[in-house]
Formats: sequence, C-alpha cells, structure tokens
Amino acid sequence: MKHLLSVDDLGGRAGIERMLELTDGFLAVTRREIPKIPALVGKVIVTLFYEDSTRTRLSFETAAKRLSADTMTFSVASSSVKKGESLLDTVQTIEAMGIDAIVVRHGAAGTPHRIVNWTDASVINAGDGRHEHPTQALLDAFTLRRHRQGSLDGTRIAIVGDIVHSRVARSDVKIFNALGADVTLVGPPTLMPESLEDWGANVSYDLDEVLGDVDVVYLLRIQKERIAGGRFPSLREYSARWGLTAQRAARLKPDVVVMHPGPMNRGVEIANDVADADISLITEQVTNGVAVRMAVLYDLLANPTSSERVS
Ligand code: NCD
Repeated sequence: MKHLLSVDDLGGRAGIERMLELTDGFLAVTRREIPKIPALVGKVIVTLFYEDSTRTRLSFETAAKRLSADTMTFSVASSSVKKGESLLDTVQTIEAMGIDAIVVRHGAAGTPHRIVNWTDASVINAGDGRHEHPTQALLDAFTLRRHRQGSLDGTRIAIVGDIVHSRVARSDVKIFNALGADVTLVGPPTLMPESLEDWGANVSYDLDEVLGDVDVVYLLRIQKERIAGGRFPSLREYSARWGLTAQRAARLKPDVVVMHPGPMNRGVEIANDVADADISLITEQVTNGVAVRMAVLYDLLANPTSSERVS
C-alpha cells in the first residue's frame, strides 16, 4: 500500500485485520514509559488541513512524532492560500522541500486522489468532504473489537444521525461490513443519502425501534456547517427524536457501548451524562487513534529492509 485514500485500499478483511494487529503492537508502544521508537527517523510528514480539526490533526502529528518522523504543519489560515495560491501550487511547493507523506483534509471529495497525481509522497486521506475518512474507520473498528472479544462478526451496530454529510459513516459502514458486523443507519429521512443501495446497510427512521436490538450505538455529529436548508425543524426537535438522551440510554441492553467520532454537540445528538458514562468509548477512541495512525504511517513509510521491528 502506497496511499490510504479509502477503506477499499486496505485490502479487504485480511488487510484490515493485519492493520488492526499492527495497531495492537503500537498501542503497547504508546504505553511504554518512553512511548517513542526510531522507526521513521529522517522521514518528513506534512499535515495539510483545509478544514478545521482538533483530534485528527493532533493525532497524526503525535503518531508521527512517536515514530521519530519530522512533522510539518500546514494551516490554511496562515498560509499563501489566503493570497490565492492553488492547491496544485501548494502541493508542489511542499513537495519541493522533500517530504515522504502528506496527510490531507479537504472540504471537497476526491481531493486526496488528485494530490496523488502531483506528488511522489504517500497520501493519506484525513477526511475529504462527505466522502471518506479511513483512519477514523480503522480506529473505530479497533476500539470496538477490543470490547467485543476480538471480533465484530454478528455485532449489531446502529449509526445514528447525519448520515448524508458524514464521511465517517461511509468509511465505517465499509469497515464494519468487511469485519462481519450488521449495520443499521438511523436518522430522519432528510439526513439519509438519496441512494442507499450500494451502502450494504439496513435503514430505519425510528431510533426507539432499533435501540433494544443493538450492541453498539454510534452517534454522528449534526454537521451544521454542511447543512444548507432546514432538514429538521430545530435542534431540540432533532434531539427529542434521534438524540441519545439519558432516558433512551437507560433502555439499552447491558453491555451496549456508545461511540462518537467527535467533536460532539452535547445535548443534541448525545446527552451530557451519556457522553461521560461508563458505556461511552469516546475517549478510548481518541487514545486508540494515535496507535492506529502509527500503524498506518509505519505501514506506508517504513523501509521494508529496515531492521526496525515494532515489538
Ligand atoms: C469527523 C470528521 O471531521 O469527519 N471528526 C473526526 O475526524 N473525528 C466527524 C465530524 O466532524 O463530525
């Protein structure tokens, strides 16, 4: 694998499982007293983020540093993009400095695929529009697998909320399906994609109907910045019908876990108390995100002839 643009690049179930196993090794590294190994000494990794981000960018940068790579942070707000520089010129300028990987987030779907044509560096998609977010999918699968005795086979997962705008939903459905889970998309019809045939998931418009049957409730952020017209009457209305309120959480089966990619709209898709409850894996998702990104960077960039070993 030279680039990671989509969950499809991981090579099906076997490739995904291999990456999750690699992640196990890196999670152990992050728990050492000195959580750093020299696997990527001399490599340069750029984070090129055209959309806001807290956890994804910091997670990639932390992962790169724990592998001893050098990092460059490109932030649109303080760059020549403000002077009208094109994406192509920006990429070529960065490339000319000598880099090994570009981690890119962009509001337009397909941007990472275009960048691949302009650079020799490895390209990692950190979220492109509504399209995909493969490392989020890997960290979600990794986190969930640890809570399901190492297997997602037969696990019933409800992904709830703003499906139509969500690259996380698209990538998560792919990875959960590949690992044998049974996914149901839940939300108002106005937040569902127009065509659901190629998603390979069940659909429900009634959260209360599915709650009693699932093992996992995966909540999505209402993406206010991407919602153009009124897709639902008000946030309060949304919360009343599709939010995981404390009353709804009380009706979940024992052992059900709650996930969210962050950032959360507390009080909208998830109640405060639920976000902080024991059943919530949200903080663990963030922790595991660093190990997953270490595994991906290592897989893409480590010299195969190197004598470095993870363990
Ligand atoms: C998500 C994203 O940016 O796609 N966040 C993340 O990467 N953890 C989800 C979101 O913004 O709602």
